[in-house]
Amino acid sequence: EKLKTEFPKDFLWGGAVAANQVEGAWNIDGKKADLSDIFPNGAHMPADRKIIEGKYYPNHEAIDFYHHYEADLDYFQEMGFKCFRTSINWSRIFPDGDETEPNEAGLKFYDDLIDAIIARDMAPVITISHYETPLNLVDKYGSWRNRKLIDYFVHFCETIFKRYGDRVKYWMTFNEINNMRRMPATAGGIFFEAGENELEVMYQTTHHMFVAHSLAIKVGRELMPDAKIGCMMSLSNVYPNTCNPNDVFETLELRRASLFYSDVMIRGKYPSYINRIWEKANVQVTFEPGDEEIISTYLSDYLGFSYYRTTTHVFGEPFAGHTGGDQGTPNPYIGTTPWGWQIDPVGFRYTFNELYDRYQIPLFCVENGLGQFDEVTEDGKIHDDYRSSYLIQHVAAMKEAIKDGVDIMGYTWWGPIDLVSVGTGEMSKRYGFVYVDKDNEGNGSLKRIKKDSLETYKNIIATNGTTL
Ligand code: BG6
Repeated sequence: EKLKTEFPKDFLWGGAVAANQVEGAWNIDGKKADLSDIFPNGAHMPADRKIIEGKYYPNHEAIDFYHHYEADLDYFQEMGFKCFRTSINWSRIFPDGDETEPNEAGLKFYDDLIDAIIARDMAPVITISHYETPLNLVDKYGSWRNRKLIDYFVHFCETIFKRYGDRVKYWMTFNEINNMRRMPATAGGIFFEAGENELEVMYQTTHHMFVAHSLAIKVGRELMPDAKIGCMMSLSNVYPNTCNPNDVFETLELRRASLFYSDVMIRGKYPSYINRIWEKANVQVTFEPGDEEIISTYLSDYLGFSYYRTTTHVFGEPFAGHTGGDQGTPNPYIGTTPWGWQIDPVGFRYTFNELYDRYQIPLFCVENGLGQFDEVTEDGKIHDDYRSSYLIQHVAAMKEAIKDGVDIMGYTWWGPIDLVSVGTGEMSKRYGFVYVDKDNEGNGSLKRIKKDSLETYKNIIATNGTTL
């Protein structure tokens, strides 16, 4: 193969959202509550397992994409998006999760949305489960700790593959499945009981999700032979803070705690290093007959991942994880957002190379973006040079990775329109190229305003990144 110097002609430039962070209409057209409907404002984790009257839940209305999507997609078309990633909220299709028959009104909504995406020359990229497990499945079955969820999930997949498979080519199963390690309540509806072996619950739960992921691919292959079905991981990175070999080795172990998930879903088997981790934490995972064969037969076509930042690790120091990745010891060489996320375009190139060295399958960066405070100035505009600069630097780093020989399918900016943050429930942590007039308490007209960065991305796409 020859040296590559440019983005491929069919490169999937686009943007990504999740249904629950934009749609609102949380109890409309037959939908019932899903996990995201109990995400509170201002906190990292859903503290309650139910909706409490009088409490403000930002996702309930979000930016009301449910009723604004035509006009919002027009902005994405104006930027020249080749694809648009969103999720199908499970609870619109199966409001309780365990029904046999789907909710037609929910199916119809996504029919129309998918048609509207395609009508604007964008390929839909669909996340099947983006923190949207129906709340009933959490309450009644304990969510993914119960194997029954595998059947419900696969039935959901089969239903949407049959309905949309003629129009949707790109799919991914669980958003950031490795966040089961960092935030199991948010990612999978897992609430621990006092005294239980949390790691054991986490690994058992994850095992069910691996089987569900592979069975979804099995059904997908039967119903949509040309589809590309991937896994999706949170892969912001971590460096050793010093050349102290203990820092270096413990950093490798931390990275493995994430890569464990893609190792299983891409290589098709549990890696040998997991045995020592399980031994140390006294973890026993129950496998049913046939599980290993399913996992080894139905492998991900591509690795979708989010990348926002990097952090560093010092041996023995605390290492907390939440949205965007892990957060360890600050790196003095790079800048930081007001939310403490360290901006690192070189880390983006590093991560592409790391992942391609490990897996040699196509990579799709399905989330990269900058959450920042934005100000509407007197001229009624938003001069967000910081966002343009983050974008340019990360796309330039991605181009370097292409030159390094990495096979990259596409890039979808996280939050091309402002949306509700998962980590904090805020609106003021803005990612968009399009501003939405709404604040953290839910006030605002929902009016949309183009930011300066919209032109930046439009130019990058129009020139297929050649000017970088
Ligand atoms: C990823 C999620 O973790 O990061 C998104 O897939 C999320 O849903 C994004 O919005 C950014 O995190 P936050 O906390 O700023 O919303």
